[in-house]
Amino acid sequence: MERHDLFLLNDSVASFMIRSATLTQAWLLRLNALLPTLRKGDTFKVTVVHRSVSFEFEGWIQVNRCSPVATSSDLNGYSYLVQKDYESHILSEEQGYDGLNKTEPLLDTAPKLFGLMPRGVHIEQSSPLYPFELTEKESLWAKNVTRLYEEAKQNQWSADTDIEWDAIPDLPPDIETAIAQVMTYLAENEFSALYIPGKFLSKISPYYMELVMFLGTIIYDETRHIEVFSRRANAKKIGLQYSTTATQRSLYSLFIEKDYFKTSFLLHVLGEGTFLDLLDFLIKYAPDPVTKKIVTLAKKDEQRHVNYGLVHVKALIQANPKRMDYLKDAVESRKAYLDEMNQENELLLSSLAILAGGSDEEGYELGYERVQQLKKRMGENRIRRMIECGFDEETAKEISMSHTANFM
Ligand SMILES: [Fe+2]
Ligand SMILES: [Fe+2]
Repeated sequence: MERHDLFLLNDSVASFMIRSATLTQAWLLRLNALLPTLRKGDTFKVTVVHRSVSFEFEGWIQVNRCSPVATSSDLNGYSYLVQKDYESHILSEEQGYDGLNKTEPLLDTAPKLFGLMPRGVHIEQSSPLYPFELTEKESLWAKNVTRLYEEAKQNQWSADTDIEWDAIPDLPPDIETAIAQVMTYLAENEFSALYIPGKFLSKISPYYMELVMFLGTIIYDETRHIEVFSRRANAKKIGLQYSTTATQRSLYSLFIEKDYFKTSFLLHVLGEGTFLDLLDFLIKYAPDPVTKKIVTLAKKDEQRHVNYGLVHVKALIQANPKRMDYLKDAVESRKAYLDEMNQENELLLSSLAILAGGSDEEGYELGYERVQQLKKRMGENRIRRMIECGFDEETAKEISMSHTANFM
């Protein structure tokens, strides 16, 4: 073997002196933990004082696919310069990264070995292959997603501390019933907005971690919306009202959609986009300040969800305008399903009319007219949002006409 002073010439990455004869397991653990952090060809120095430990260490070197580059023994003990002979990790640089977890540029396809881990980690070669189905950047990403995640964090609010539940006044029974019915409908739709991102989340490669985290904020936003809308319905004696088949069929037709891009368009652009107008209407006509505040806070959250959808869909259409037809097909096949029972949620619409005008004859007629204007405004804004995404006006109009009468 080589002379001991050779050790000084080598640029070892670590050096250990094992003095104990009884704590061998502790030191082998330390060496085992060192190995995954070394590159092939890296060397480290180990000196053991006791001969019995040196035998054990020589066995460890063989078992762990390393080789002794140099050894020596003197009064201090038995010394080894050991080299690691294999590459155990894919390093983040080799995936196009410098290990700093930068957002751009992201790879167009998530690396195959990328599992449940943050981007920028060094992945062990023997790591299992997760069956993530959504691994293409284009089909998932929106350039505003990191900013939206930051906004979501800064704008979190609490159903307990931000809403003065005790300040809800006693309203006339007709009005309170209308509120309870609208809140029931909203809560149903919020379940849809919660389950759909949840359904896709586990299919998305964690490599696109900002998107995954943003979807996590959507899920919590919708959870809070379900809570506040249900809680508002139950705040007075009236309580939660009626679910309708019209709403459930509409939500079902969205729930069973398997394509992420189509769903993103149907939910975030068309559905939640239309909800922005509905929430605006409620901000205007809610009979008490507590309900107004609930709806105002929920709308702020919804705006983020819509903003993700708009930028996501716009980028995909820009890359390939034929995708407009693909989305139109999605809306039309949903419409074909819904047309078997083409229904509006009449309980909802009549409750909205009562809130917007009143429950007496004159007030109700005025409220009905205001609901008609709301539906018109919803249609115009849907078209405007689609044009913002890159649709031509004619296609946008056709799609808007085919959008579900349930709004979401
Ligand atoms: Fe929501
Ligand atoms: Fe939402």
